[in-house]
Amino acid sequence: MNRRDFIKSSAILAAGSTISGRAETPAPIPSLNESAAEGALIDSAPMLQNYAETSMGIAFGVSDMANGFVTYGEKPDLSDGKTVKCGGYRVTDMNDKVMLVRLTGLKPATKYYYRIGADRISYKSGYDMKIIGTETDSRIYSFTTAGVGAKDHFCVINDTHGNKETFETVLSTLQKLHPSCVIWNGDATSCEEEIEDQKRIFLSPTEKFPDYASETPYLFTCGNHDSRGMANRHMERVWMFRQPEERKSRDWDLGRNYAVRMGNIAMIGLDTAEDKMDSNPKFAGLFTSAAYREAQVAWLEDALKQPEIKSAPFLVAFCHIPLFCDDPKANPGDIFPDDSDPAYEDDYASWQRTCAKLWTPLLEKAGCQLIIAAHEHRIRYDAPTADRKWAQLVGGGSRVTDSDTSFPSVIQGFVENKELKIALHNACTGKVVNTYTFKARKGKKIR
Ligand SMILES: [Fe+2]
Ligand SMILES: [Fe+2]
Repeated sequence: MNRRDFIKSSAILAAGSTISGRAETPAPIPSLNESAAEGALIDSAPMLQNYAETSMGIAFGVSDMANGFVTYGEKPDLSDGKTVKCGGYRVTDMNDKVMLVRLTGLKPATKYYYRIGADRISYKSGYDMKIIGTETDSRIYSFTTAGVGAKDHFCVINDTHGNKETFETVLSTLQKLHPSCVIWNGDATSCEEEIEDQKRIFLSPTEKFPDYASETPYLFTCGNHDSRGMANRHMERVWMFRQPEERKSRDWDLGRNYAVRMGNIAMIGLDTAEDKMDSNPKFAGLFTSAAYREAQVAWLEDALKQPEIKSAPFLVAFCHIPLFCDDPKANPGDIFPDDSDPAYEDDYASWQRTCAKLWTPLLEKAGCQLIIAAHEHRIRYDAPTADRKWAQLVGGGSRVTDSDTSFPSVIQGFVENKELKIALHNACTGKVVNTYTFKARKGKKIR
């Protein structure tokens, strides 16, 4: 019996008991403190992470030593509910910061209801621990999984850099659009040393929209800043990896790459990693972007062969650093050893030539129509050419501004009249400033 079957069977047989839902326990979080049993234990609304066809991640914050759980089912009152605990085999993931629960074995394009809860734990030693209270969120939320039958509607945000005003601005636009999922296309953070800062950025970014991601699932394509700072080196403590069975053992470290079918659209997520060379002395040899980029080639090859990806009329790839730039002064990110060359304006990558060489031949062969990137804090559209069959759209900036090129953007994608439509929203003005349309890949049938 594989793990997924075990979980399904256990859930049915355990009738009221809880089971472990995540096989991958994140890096240990220090500061085990004695439970104070004061104040609310659950200190954020749930966030839906890693939108997928048959799984969904649910993350939420806690203020004290806890063991979190999610009860989910297809009935609005959860009378058919199964309960899944955070953590995986052997032990649950008891900690005092973030509860991560991944639901697996779900049906594609299906609406599920769920409620979060947590047991408050008094932990004195390995032989002296007890549950001293249980807190459940009074609200029942819902989500819909991805799949061919799902509504084809995504939105992209980027480079919010933990800026509350910027995030509230893009959320105001997202609230009006109600997409099936949101792609957070990198630089959500800047340089985070403490897990509390990551909790603030992802789980409690604004009182104005506390449940911004409780019913709208997110995908995360890391940006260069999302690897900077001690806490960001362990991003998976706040933004979970996919389940091990959702990827091959070869792709073990590619926990957030995604190949998701949503209606007529196949969405591919790639991580361009740092904007500096691994050899740059500034990073003291503590980054391994080169190997990471290469590892994603085999993953991408396989992802593009998946039947639900191969058959999609529209193929859109997402990554943080652009994969094309025709400005000869733009640093291409492969200048050994320290990124500096007087020929370029900056000593960091404006675009990623290494990733372009590794990935774009595969994407182009598969008929990818559009790559959506970020990083430059400036809107740019590169129309396809005779030599480059795909278009590239680069999202906007990190600050609320009246500039007409660097505003925080929401890039909306949906299918209408058998075409993929992309609307570029200026989140500051709430207006659509440009639209683009793409025809279906040759021989692919639109549903
Ligand atoms: Fe940025
Ligand atoms: Fe960036």
